[in-house]
Amino acid sequence: MSAERYKRQAAMRAVEMVEPGMRLGLGTGSTAAHFVALLGERVKAGLSVVCVPTSRATQKLAEARGIKLSTLDELPELDVTFDGADEIDGELRMIKGGGGALLREKIVAMASDRVVIMADESKAVAKLGATKLPVEVVQFGLKATRDMIEALATDVGCKGDIELRRTADGQPFVTDNGNYIFNCDFGSIGDPEELDEAFRFIPGVVESGLFLDICDLAIIAGEGGVKVYEARRELEDED
Ligand code: A5P
Repeated sequence: MSAERYKRQAAMRAVEMVEPGMRLGLGTGSTAAHFVALLGERVKAGLSVVCVPTSRATQKLAEARGIKLSTLDELPELDVTFDGADEIDGELRMIKGGGGALLREKIVAMASDRVVIMADESKAVAKLGATKLPVEVVQFGLKATRDMIEALATDVGCKGDIELRRTADGQPFVTDNGNYIFNCDFGSIGDPEELDEAFRFIPGVVESGLFLDICDLAIIAGEGGVKVYEARRELEDED
């Protein structure tokens, strides 16, 4: 069966979790698009929900399906965000941003009580890094920012090409937030937390596509059926 069928199966399981009155975050990408289409069917059948999209592309899809939309300014707290991922490991750590929407995706995810990730089995990896890691950066001081990414990533054992993402016609890809993206071809990332921490020292970096400790539930569809994985988090100290 094709990856597209698995993406749809994961989205079908996810849409069953939506309850009337929920405030939802809508992710970006082809898997999230399946979810939006299926949610649109439920809305058409009478379900009442209000959603915050993570990109202009998703906004358009949701509008076309008659889904009621809002913004984080009007709804700063959401119940659940449903999104896809480029890679997800056994600890439900992810690389996202293949579609360029990583910053809004992270903002919306962090404003949500729960984050549900839908993916086909090709996204499940033992170690993050087979796909290029997107890093959103401001346009000002691009070369300095690139060099700092290279230096600090090298310090934590991550080396590889760092290239500006471009559109098909060779122009720099500009995010919905007016920023650029560096695609970092680091290969296997030994310590994602350490790399994430390193990015925080670079003023030109807005956010990276490392989504750590964000996913609560992963729905992964593949040849063996649809599997659901709950994040295992340490119980927080009550003191
Ligand atoms: C968008 O910026 C990404 O984070 C997507 O969630 C990710 O690229 C998954 O996309 P697909 O569902 O199209 O594979």
